[in-house]
Amino acid sequence: MKSGALLLAGVFFGIGLSMTSPQADGQAEKPTWGPKEEAALRAAKALMDVTLTVHKVYVEHVTRVILRKPDSGIKSNFDFAVAENTIPSPDTLVKFIGQTLAAEGRGANMRMYSEFPFAHRVGTPEAVLDDQEKAALEVFRRDASAADWKAVSTKGGIRVVRYFVPRKMSKGCVDCHNNRADSSKKDWKVGDAGGAFEAVVPIE
Ligand code: HEC
Repeated sequence: MKSGALLLAGVFFGIGLSMTSPQADGQAEKPTWGPKEEAALRAAKALMDVTLTVHKVYVEHVTRVILRKPDSGIKSNFDFAVAENTIPSPDTLVKFIGQTLAAEGRGANMRMYSEFPFAHRVGTPEAVLDDQEKAALEVFRRDASAADWKAVSTKGGIRVVRYFVPRKMSKGCVDCHNNRADSSKKDWKVGDAGGAFEAVVPIE
């Protein structure tokens, strides 16, 4: 009887804990950089390297090569699925990889985001940023020399390490982003952190 009561108390206590312990997504955690967090950070940096490389290769060896062909009439844009003769823009490709990893991957994830998504993203989940994502942009805005930023937090109810790298606006970026009708910010300056890349790895 006594142990039954204890068991019952334990079950209730357990339920209470499990109801209160998961943090809201993106809520900062007191940083505890033990060996597990360091291992997740190394994996996040590797994922970041792959992400940046895929982006770079797609820009330099696919997009530019295709668009440079004379009279191809091919464009690069987000609406490649419905528009004629259009390949995905590099930014769109990276967003697709992130969304596919989130849906089909094993917990690790990546994202390229900003506070100024193009018109077709406004009001979609892709335009929603959590506290950590906003904090990273704030760090990069305040300190132009910051090369990266990391945090231990929660995403989708699990503890993760998140690793951020700023996405700096060069002249080519500014020329396009400031001149497109569907861009939601048109006063970018060279050197601004236009957004960030984020790599997320569960702590195991
Ligand atoms: C030729 C036009 C063009 C150029 C050049 C370009 N972008 Fe973009 N960028 C876009 C378009 C279009 C999107 C929207 C893609 C989407 O939503 O799928 C976008 C999206 C983004 C986003 C994500 C916005 C969001 O929150 O969804 C960031 C950040 C970004 N670009 C930064 C850059 C940077 C930095 C460069 C230069 C290194 C650059 N862009 C070069 C057209 C361009």
